[in-house]
Amino acid sequence: MKALRNDSSKKLARGGAAVAALFLIPLLILVVLNTDSLPQLTRLRESSITQVSDFFISIRPKTSNQVQYLGGTKENVVQTVTQVSDETVHKVYSSSDVAARRSKLSCNVTRAGMDICAMEGDVRVHGKSATVYVVAASHDSYRPENGTVSILPYARKTDGGTKVTIRLSAPDVTTDDINPPRCTVTHDVPAVVFSTTCCYSTNFFHATDDTIIPLYNTAREYDGHVQLLVTDYDHKLMFKLRHFLAALSIYPVIDFNADDAVRCFPLVRVGLERHEELRINPALSRKGYAMKDFRDFLRSAYSLKHAWATPAHQSSSQRPRLVMVLRRGSRVITNEAEAIATVTEVGFELVAAAPEMVRDMATFAHVVNSCNVMVGVHGAGLTNLMFLPNNATFMQIIPWGEIKEIGWNEFGHPSLDMGLRYVEYEISAEETTLKDVYPKDHDVFTDPLSIHKQGFRPVWEIFLNGQNVTLDMDRFRGVMQQIYQSVTIT
Ligand SMILES: *[C@@H]1O[C@H](CO)[C@@H](O)[C@H](O)[C@H]1NC(C)=O
Ligand SMILES: *[C@@H]1O[C@H](CO)[C@@H](O)[C@H](O)[C@H]1NC(C)=O
Ligand SMILES: *[C@@H]1O[C@H](CO)[C@@H](O)[C@H](O)[C@H]1NC(C)=O
Ligand SMILES: *[C@@H]1O[C@H](CO)[C@@H](O)[C@H](O)[C@H]1NC(C)=O
Repeated sequence: MKALRNDSSKKLARGGAAVAALFLIPLLILVVLNTDSLPQLTRLRESSITQVSDFFISIRPKTSNQVQYLGGTKENVVQTVTQVSDETVHKVYSSSDVAARRSKLSCNVTRAGMDICAMEGDVRVHGKSATVYVVAASHDSYRPENGTVSILPYARKTDGGTKVTIRLSAPDVTTDDINPPRCTVTHDVPAVVFSTTCCYSTNFFHATDDTIIPLYNTAREYDGHVQLLVTDYDHKLMFKLRHFLAALSIYPVIDFNADDAVRCFPLVRVGLERHEELRINPALSRKGYAMKDFRDFLRSAYSLKHAWATPAHQSSSQRPRLVMVLRRGSRVITNEAEAIATVTEVGFELVAAAPEMVRDMATFAHVVNSCNVMVGVHGAGLTNLMFLPNNATFMQIIPWGEIKEIGWNEFGHPSLDMGLRYVEYEISAEETTLKDVYPKDHDVFTDPLSIHKQGFRPVWEIFLNGQNVTLDMDRFRGVMQQIYQSVTIT
């Protein structure tokens, strides 16, 4: 491609005279038609587009800014040259199979957590080299230095992953020799490129917060007619999310880094639009999506039956269902068996959800959706609250150590946006196993915020990873009875 272009320029340059250059142009056009190998778009002024249908050539004289166009149909070459200078065929473009309009690139790389770029027009994606070409970009496009910008298409960009390089070619970008490859596959739907790097497959909170919700927010508007391309392809995660992905796109997901095709799209988005933890801010969402829309979509993707939690009659044999999300390793309820017995005595039908049960997303989504209440200690498993029906009750047990704000941001506030009722149960100094490790007068008890001031690591090691909880059964029973009253009718 590049060789042909250089060769053509040389031929014209050697010709010396304007006449020679003009004489060679029909030959060049034949080469264009026969090889189908020239880059596709154009630098044509709006006014010229009507004059040229099948293809056109633009010649930029070295000594002036004046642009000349030669164009026509396959049968009839029309010359609209206004001035010819000897040596200078800079670029040759064929527009035969692409709308004769400029491409556009816009990026927002100013946000703390994420970089996102959107491009439309003639956009060519080469996964293997992690490069996206934006051909013949318009003047109002985002103009990165040297026509190149590299972004991490992960909703939390500090978590790393493959950089995707976006290369822009435009008539007036001359610092870099950007040479777009030709399309091997042409798609007529938009594409969304995103990364599954990091902790996705092992942490459901991150899978949801960094991928599921931002991906919904970015790709849902295309109503299934969108091609997803995934960098740092995480097979385990992609399998886990298969129902969600199938509802979002009717096409199989493409493993970006392994894909050697040059795919051309009319529109490409690189990076995902993420707002706060497990939330979409409708004011920031391009389509004005809210969590309600997201939850409607989830219910449809997983064929969940219950849009609304229905109160149970205390007199009937139908008990309200409560799912208790159980942890292993840390933040364990040490008197779990007792807690389960209490919940049952209070009147609930209990679903004890140990990690093995929670693992299969689609199966567990149905379990959660059939419940009126979810209870659990702060942790990733609580992310499944998104499958609860509207008006269901969510109770988060907050470990000792001023963890309330973290708990509120990650699950409390999101639960309200999801149309749930939120109950916060904060563990007392009497209910934490930290009391077996630290004396009563230790900062851990007297001034937990001083631990926070030392950074996240000690908070993690002491308060999040370093404690289990032993529920005070009288206190717990009282709270369970209140919840029971609120989800039943007499
Ligand atoms: C980029 O993101 C910031 C922060 O959310 C926002 O204020 C700004 O308007 C965005 N810019 C564009 C061009 O979207
Ligand atoms: C742009 O190109 C110049 C010259 O080659 C180089 O010094 C500079 O670092 C480049 N800038 C970027 C952002 O790549
Ligand atoms: C949901 O809860 C609200 C507030 O408690 C109540 O007014 C409303 O009737 C409930 N909706 C349904 C469908 O149960
Ligand atoms: C919490 O309980 C689990 C399971 O019994 C145990 O493996 C872990 O060591 C306990 N952690 C602490 C800090 O006591």
